[in-house]
Amino acid sequence: MARGRFVSLEGGEGVGKSTQLAALAEALAGRGIAVHVTREPGGSPGAEAIRALLLEGEEGRWNPRAEALLFAAARSDHIERTIRPALDRGQWVLSDRFLDSSLAYQGAAGGLGIDRVRDLHRFGSDDFLPDRTLVLQLGDGEAAARARVRDGDAGDRIGSRPPAYHAAVEAGFREIAEREPQRVRLIDASGTAATVTARLLYALGDLLP
Ligand code: TYD
Repeated sequence: MARGRFVSLEGGEGVGKSTQLAALAEALAGRGIAVHVTREPGGSPGAEAIRALLLEGEEGRWNPRAEALLFAAARSDHIERTIRPALDRGQWVLSDRFLDSSLAYQGAAGGLGIDRVRDLHRFGSDDFLPDRTLVLQLGDGEAAARARVRDGDAGDRIGSRPPAYHAAVEAGFREIAEREPQRVRLIDASGTAATVTARLLYALGDLLP
């Protein structure tokens, strides 16, 4: 049996990622692909326990390095317990966020640097990477407005960080896409949901059976 493909969906706050995740999963299933949908932080029992530590509580609960290590630890467990087994069964894995969130949030915006966070992934998960990473992008103003509508004033520990942090996240995603253009594709998230889903599918064209 052929090994499945691993696709991650990324983006800052308020870019319509949840809607697109569901639509993309449905579109792939419609092409006869068995899809396992998962998320980060989380996706395995251990990683879901770490998710609560990361997203709940005071903003200053973790120092930046501890936060990055917790994401890396959760990811190591998620890959070993959930992602690799599904790929080995021949399923496609579609993950709501993965490594590139750590590179953009903790690395670029959090000040640790993209390279040092990537080193954590080398240690934690042998640099295991998606076959393709799709990064939804909107103009900063539009995304922030959508996120406010969705969350009100009460985001989680990380989502509620200031606008400058989220602007640095966006810049981080753009830098990662420049560094790894084959794996990481920036997708325009403006327009109707159906238009955006079509863009995502197009960006997977060379992987589809
Ligand atoms: P979640 O509720 O899943 O939000 P979203 O709908 O935005 O995906 O919360 C995940 C939060 O954690 C989000 O603000 C992004 C952040 N995050 C990191 O900072 N680093 C990471 O490696 C991951 C996976 C997520």
